[in-house]
Amino acid sequence: MKQIFIVGNWKSNKTALEATEWLEMVKNQGLSLREDQKVVLCVPFTLLQLVSSFVKENNLQIAVGAQDISQFDEGSFTGATNGKQIAEFATYVIIGHSERRMHFGEIDEVLAMKFDMARKYALTPIYLVQDKDTVIPEGISIVGYEPVFAIGTGIPDTPENANAVAKEIKTRHAGVSVLYGGSVTSVNVSKFTQLSDIDGVIPGKASLNPQEFLQLIKNA
Ligand code: PGA
Repeated sequence: MKQIFIVGNWKSNKTALEATEWLEMVKNQGLSLREDQKVVLCVPFTLLQLVSSFVKENNLQIAVGAQDISQFDEGSFTGATNGKQIAEFATYVIIGHSERRMHFGEIDEVLAMKFDMARKYALTPIYLVQDKDTVIPEGISIVGYEPVFAIGTGIPDTPENANAVAKEIKTRHAGVSVLYGGSVTSVNVSKFTQLSDIDGVIPGKASLNPQEFLQLIKNA
């Protein structure tokens, strides 16, 4: 039985109040996962503590993730959030989102340093690539394929192409799980998760609304 990951990415959204409302709603509606499902919620740094405390106290089956990690260890790096700090609250971290590459100038060398930091602090990296040829550091166990044209546009890649890219990545990196991200919704999610080489999805927009996110999990 393959494991299906559902990795919500809140991006730069939600205040503490809004996050609490989301969590309360999910708690009240009830989150019941199938045995093969794993839900990870990647939230802004400012919400890591709040979300991790809430899921622990309420036994919600949600693993917490960060959306980025400093390429440096603790020390004189003003404004950076390091792996040691993240690991207090989270077990996963997204590395290499195209928005980080595009708006924050993150290049492969920096992303490789981030991967090393994640590993140092026992965080599981979800390494995002934009196509089958994007460089992937050795030792990654979860890769997310997110074509730029599909992110936030409402126009996902075709499930067939996403599956072909996932398959290609797996032939180059034995043993990795490959997730698909880019305009995944509760309506189209099963078209991706039912395919042989896709091990889960990364919904951005669809993770912001708790009802939509719960429906997406149900349909995945
Ligand atoms: P989207 O974002 O679901 O809003 O397209 C996905 C992502 O960028 O991770």
